[in-house]
Amino acid sequence: MSDAHSAHDGHEINAHTDALLSDPGMHDHHWRPTDVDPAAERRAERQVATLFVLSGVCSVLFVVAYFGLSTGYQPSEIAGMGASNVCLGLAFGFALLFIGIGIIQWARKLMADEELAEDRHPAASSLEDRSATIAAFKQGVDESGITRRPLIRNTLLGAVGFLLVPVVVELRDLSGTNPNKLINGFAAGNPLGQGLTNTIWRRGTRIVRDVVGTPIRPGDLEIGDLVNAEPELLFNREAGQQVTEEFVLEGADLQNAKEKAATVLLKMNPSDIVNDVTRQWSYEGIVAYSKICTHVGCPISLLERTTHHLLCPCHQSTFDLADGGKVVFGPAGHHLPQLPLGVDADGYLVALDDYQEPVGPSYWERDTQSVEKISNNWKYNGKDNVLNGVRNVELGGKVDFA
Ligand code: FES
Repeated sequence: MSDAHSAHDGHEINAHTDALLSDPGMHDHHWRPTDVDPAAERRAERQVATLFVLSGVCSVLFVVAYFGLSTGYQPSEIAGMGASNVCLGLAFGFALLFIGIGIIQWARKLMADEELAEDRHPAASSLEDRSATIAAFKQGVDESGITRRPLIRNTLLGAVGFLLVPVVVELRDLSGTNPNKLINGFAAGNPLGQGLTNTIWRRGTRIVRDVVGTPIRPGDLEIGDLVNAEPELLFNREAGQQVTEEFVLEGADLQNAKEKAATVLLKMNPSDIVNDVTRQWSYEGIVAYSKICTHVGCPISLLERTTHHLLCPCHQSTFDLADGGKVVFGPAGHHLPQLPLGVDADGYLVALDDYQEPVGPSYWERDTQSVEKISNNWKYNGKDNVLNGVRNVELGGKVDFA
């Protein structure tokens, strides 16, 4: 490229930049009322002083609240909250707020009001640098031949466009009804543990102890016992026993299924259950909930036995297992999903169905229905929770349960 050519490009750039960055100049200065009116100035001064005095009053109220309000066994209350904490917080907060507002008013109305302009050095690169960059870019375009070889250019653009296709197709795996993942003999819409909305729990699946895989009878548990549980199907699979032809999960699919199905059982006094749905889905005081925290998915198993609260160790979300798994503390935005329980013909605990809502962390499109609404939508609602012979049906896997 010739010197004359690049000098011409440089002048064009300069002209464009100058047009964009023309000096806007200074606006006319507007005097404030307090600059020109001594009465307004005195008024502003009194306002600022009043704010500082109010701050002092709040500090005194803080001390009064500290000594005057009871925090003992029967603390004073305001709107159901500890009066001492409320008053201390409000008094100290307002003390700081009045000082802040006072200082702002002082600066805005009374401090010197002077407008200054400070020139900045030019931020643009030098003319030589910009010309050299443009020249290098044009040289690169020429040498690549992209303008002379439309076949290559267009096929490259097409290839980049097609890169989006796998990304979009992968989103399909988030669906709970991916037909390719259907297991032989099972109805569409209820694939074996696939998608965000399904786990491998199904009607009649025995509930067994995690790790050892032993089934559980209601009488095996004492009040206050917390048991980590999994579906028996996983243990049959791992032990090579009773593997049914439809149970074909392998590798990562198997691990995902196992993690999503993780469940905790708690036996409590049936009269301690305060939620109708929880009571209906329990069996002799035994309740089953997903073990996966609805905040960001940590496994939960810290039990406060007397309150039936289950605490997540990650960020202290706390769920009330006697009341539909409702969140009583912490950042979780969704109750713990409950698994409806029954017993089979041999007297072992079984699931009456899959979880009726997605387990695991909340996600953007997750429905936030109440446990009562979820129960109303459940197709087995109100049916006997003793399943005569259902275990055989479960393993056969060919029968429509509806
Ligand atoms: S993952 Fe349980 S509280 Fe955050």
